[in-house]
Amino acid sequence: MPGMLLGDVFPNFEAETTAGRVKLYEYLGDSWGILFTHPRDYTPVCTTELGRIARLDGEFRKRSVKLIGLSLDSLEDHCGWSKDILAYNCEESECCKLPFPIIADSKRELAVALGMLDPDEKDKDGLPLTARCVFVIGPDKRLKLSLLYPATTGRNFDEILRVVDSLQLTAMRRVATPADWKPGDCVMVPPNMPEEEAAALFPAGVFTKDLPSGKKYLRYTPDPQDQGECVDTEGSQTEPKPCTSLKTSFRL
Ligand code: BEZ
Repeated sequence: MPGMLLGDVFPNFEAETTAGRVKLYEYLGDSWGILFTHPRDYTPVCTTELGRIARLDGEFRKRSVKLIGLSLDSLEDHCGWSKDILAYNCEESECCKLPFPIIADSKRELAVALGMLDPDEKDKDGLPLTARCVFVIGPDKRLKLSLLYPATTGRNFDEILRVVDSLQLTAMRRVATPADWKPGDCVMVPPNMPEEEAAALFPAGVFTKDLPSGKKYLRYTPDPQDQGECVDTEGSQTEPKPCTSLKTSFRL
């Protein structure tokens, strides 16, 4: 089955878009990239999704992420529908441009090659439409994360910003982010990192949760990009301050 796996080099495709012909790597430059697909222009869920992405454009820019959309519809449809999306966003200016290009993959070449089709949603000829796919591409042009939702379920774009934050943090620092992590929350020390190395690498402190197994793998440290402080608890253990909220949710 065709498709992209984590770590694969993303193909440097060329495609017709609402911003002219685009070569992926030229478009992305040294930035991160997100390729997102939607099933069909002039449909309700897709309109709310692209409206939301347009409103979050500043957040993606802050993170140096370049966006590019894709569906099987024509350029003409993309351009006409863009005006509806801007109107849905209450954009009152004459501007009819969304802040990202949308690929017109009318020949289905990319949708098939990248495994982005939803077998349950078909066009009038019975051919599958694109699913709601998100590919996050790193500055090294490798696939860092993929999400694939069916046509009937709209995506949560706060989650997509959150995963970009995690991907960018973990690309720079040897940490992992726990369930429901947000920037500023404690992060996890990777399980394969020796204790002495963790102590040297995380001067803000490492807090280890005692577990029935006696194994010392549940180790937290403050978000290294958030300058969190450590506070003394009983014994010699220090618990990073931002872990207080984790203490409640994980009963540390
Ligand atoms: C929508 O965007 O509303 C939609 C598109 C295709 C199938 C179901 C819903």
